[in-house]
Amino acid sequence: MFDKIGSLLDEDLKEMSDLKTLDDLRVKYLGKKGLITELNSEIRNVPNEEKKGFGMKVNELRNRFTEFYDQEKSRLEQEALNKRLEQEAIDISLPATKVPVGAPHILEKVIEEVEEVFLSMGYDVVDGPEIEEDKYNFEMLNIPKGHPARDAQDTFYIEGEEILLRSQTSPVQVRTMLKGEGRVPIRMICPGKTYRRDDDDASHSHQFMQIEGLLVDKDISLSDLKGTMDVLFKRLFGKDVETRFRPSYYQFTEPSVEVDITCVNCHGKGCNVCKNTGWVTVVGAGVVHPNVLRMSGYDPDVWSGFAFGFGAERLAMMKYDINDIRTFYNADLRESKVFDREDEE
Ligand code: DAH
Repeated sequence: MFDKIGSLLDEDLKEMSDLKTLDDLRVKYLGKKGLITELNSEIRNVPNEEKKGFGMKVNELRNRFTEFYDQEKSRLEQEALNKRLEQEAIDISLPATKVPVGAPHILEKVIEEVEEVFLSMGYDVVDGPEIEEDKYNFEMLNIPKGHPARDAQDTFYIEGEEILLRSQTSPVQVRTMLKGEGRVPIRMICPGKTYRRDDDDASHSHQFMQIEGLLVDKDISLSDLKGTMDVLFKRLFGKDVETRFRPSYYQFTEPSVEVDITCVNCHGKGCNVCKNTGWVTVVGAGVVHPNVLRMSGYDPDVWSGFAFGFGAERLAMMKYDINDIRTFYNADLRESKVFDREDEE
């Protein structure tokens, strides 16, 4: 029996091709019904004085097998590991996959430029809610319920007539004054989204970006507003740019003005952008109406201020020579990239 298993081992114990074959071999010899296991259980039938010798011989066979098994197992495992490492190896000489890089949105860039100008003049940049109360969007701006001035704004109402999507950033004036609790001076700008029920076309968008400004202090007049607008547009478009005021009407300012700047396209000579007038209207503004000051807790006999509001899209369109407002909202990364590159040149 020993010799028979011995010669079987001679035949079987050779280099294995894989771990599965090696395990099959283990089952053949050392499994529950394996040749060596069964031989070992024969010890019962062996006379006592021969048991020791029998056991030693079984052990010999078992050791021969396990030694081979351990060796072969670790060889195969090492081989598998090497193979895996080879497959997973990183070729550092390969060119890397390009990660697409974004570019700042053009509107964001224009807004940041405006913010920088006002920050340098001591203004704060503040924020307000896009879902607004009628009270702030209209009433406290001197536009009572039923007033025809409301119709001009084609407001999106959300809940009855009280909750709406703000149709202008002017409510942030009111919120800032109320928060100020009489603190002066107030110098703030508020850039943010506004909404109106407009049909989208090349020059209309139901959602657009407005930048609001408010200054409240003592003895503020239109000339302060004029100086501020001059600084803003010279910083944005160059020293040659001039500003002018034309009379206008807003409920929350008195007097009210439209601010024009010399056309940046033709430098005042006349072109199709300025309809041959040499001027382009960019801002609505005025001296804060006494009612607005009073409603927000500022005595108009003591305090005065100016306010203004303008669309960021308008400025961006002039600055980057864009003629369709929808360009800003079609989320085409290529456009941001083109304008970003132009700025760097
Ligand atoms: N809110 C006005 C609009 O959307 C713009 C505006 C005009 C804002 C005059 C002001 C202002 O603060 O004083 O048309």
